[in-house]
Amino acid sequence: MSSQDFLLAPSILSADFARLGEEIGNVVAAGADWVHFDVMDNHYVPNLTVGPLVCAAIRPHTTAPIDVHLMVKPVDRIIPDFVAAGADIITFHPEASEHIDRTLGLIRDKGARAGLAFNPATSLHHLEYVLDKLDVVLLMSVNPGFGGQSFLPGALVKLAAARARLDAYAAQGGRRIRLEVDGGVKAANIADIARAGADVFVAGSAIFGAARRGDPHAYDTAIAELRAELGRCR
Ligand code: DX5
Ligand code: ZN
Repeated sequence: MSSQDFLLAPSILSADFARLGEEIGNVVAAGADWVHFDVMDNHYVPNLTVGPLVCAAIRPHTTAPIDVHLMVKPVDRIIPDFVAAGADIITFHPEASEHIDRTLGLIRDKGARAGLAFNPATSLHHLEYVLDKLDVVLLMSVNPGFGGQSFLPGALVKLAAARARLDAYAAQGGRRIRLEVDGGVKAANIADIARAGADVFVAGSAIFGAARRGDPHAYDTAIAELRAELGRCR
């Protein structure tokens, strides 16, 4: 895989929420490919973030795809609202839907790309019957709920297993499904993560955390560092 195929998806969870539109404009100008939008409900995960209103508010600030990561339960009721708010990709956790196939179909029917998100201890068997309905597989490399946690090394083995499964699917004539990693991604580990098979990299604190140090070019520097590391795994 060439490094051009790698996508960076800054998580707005670590952005300055009082200046969200500006933050998103800046991070996309610095080279972000997707905007990762973490939705938490204080029920499925022990934290509470933002919903469709905020998604709609940031939509005019960028043409980059908005990658909505739903950490909420249930999921079906809120999906049409996120599509109406401008979400391009919607990912949910299999434990949060009673009918995974139906939820994937709902996302696609409404016009967005669909993804399944796997917690560190969630088995990849959920992929088995739904590959035809998936655009993205998201593997969590932390337990969901908070930014700034450390990457769980077991995610590398799981990424390799998911990569093998997605490559086999593509080889049998299936579409290319993106393999996204979320949690604890930094310049120090992104090359290993890419070698394990990920091609979309969520990074919250590694990108937005840099701005807190007062560097006006913080996003350019943080994104350039991540891309330089990815360039080493061509
Ligand atoms: C965690 C979220 C992640 C998180 C990533 O529940 O899904 O997207 O914001 O943040 P970092 O990169 O700081 O681990
Ligand atoms: Zn996320």
